[in-house]
Amino acid sequence: MRILSGLQPSGRLHIGNYFGMMQAALHLQEEGEAYYFIADYHSLTSIHDGKLLRSHVRDLAIDFLACGLDPAKSVFFRQSDVPEHCELSWILSTVTPMGLLERCHSYKDKVANGIKPSHGLFAYPVLMAADILIYDADVVPVGKDQKQHVEVTRDIAIKMNETFGEGLLKLPLPRIREDTAVVPGLDGQKMSKSYDNTIQLFEEPAALKKKIMGIKTDSTPVESPKAVEGSSILALYKLVASPADYDQMVQDHLNGGVGYGDFKKRLLQATSDFFAPFREKRAAITADPAYVDRVLAEGAEKARAVARKTLARVRDAVGLG
Ligand code: TYM
Repeated sequence: MRILSGLQPSGRLHIGNYFGMMQAALHLQEEGEAYYFIADYHSLTSIHDGKLLRSHVRDLAIDFLACGLDPAKSVFFRQSDVPEHCELSWILSTVTPMGLLERCHSYKDKVANGIKPSHGLFAYPVLMAADILIYDADVVPVGKDQKQHVEVTRDIAIKMNETFGEGLLKLPLPRIREDTAVVPGLDGQKMSKSYDNTIQLFEEPAALKKKIMGIKTDSTPVESPKAVEGSSILALYKLVASPADYDQMVQDHLNGGVGYGDFKKRLLQATSDFFAPFREKRAAITADPAYVDRVLAEGAEKARAVARKTLARVRDAVGLG
């Protein structure tokens, strides 16, 4: 089984990224041939500051390694180190119906959130299709917001196969964990950098405290029962607490007698405890920048060898070269 997924280096990783994609990706690296990459070409659709993009790429590499990505098991690389993605993207774009892209909600959401509409932003799903198809991936672990993009990838692959020969490209499947398909942010909406409602994976302790203690709650008095449905405190606690501690918090909501301040303190403690081991590992990796460079260089070499082969197959089928 070949597994592939990517993350955009558009800011610091947040726990929506972790529970929506990274945790599954880390498990899957034990089960098959995994390819994970830093989607820096994609981030160019929203970041036009070279220094900033480079520093985000580096942070993402360090963060993912700190969380347990094992370069002995997974091929970990920077997308732009494999420019073959872009060539395949162009070829795919020539069979991609406009209507398919016009239906993509992520483009509309991003424009509504203030990202400038550009051709790159509109064509983003075609590049994503190339990312996936160039590795003949079987499985793509993602959060729910990327589901449509994997479906578009399948549609494009089908179109390519109909046009240039059955079996040319492999059809991938999204792998979405039901319980963490949409991780809520501090305000209950989907956690996302564009909504300014994130908890970063490596949030400084003071900032973490401020964010969690600042979660908006209703004015139910301490002694009264509190709503379980729609509580972002409970939804986040479920991710980081043990099942027994989570059940206890549900009971305390239902029974009343415990205030929101207390629930927030429990959430704060469980969040810091959950990410503490990663934090230690992150410090060690940060102290060894040559290690990160080496991992990405080796990953690029391995990824490129696979990508070149697929691209050669496609170039041959379409009549290039
Ligand atoms: P990106 O960088 O926005 O997010 C990375 C991964 O995190 C997941 N995610 C979430 N999951 C659950 N709840 C949330 N609140 C949440 N926020 C983010 C995303 O679903 C994603 O899996 N287009 C992709 C990057 C990409 C890619 C690819 C992915 C480029 N090429 C090829 C897979 C295959 C993106 O912008 O993800």
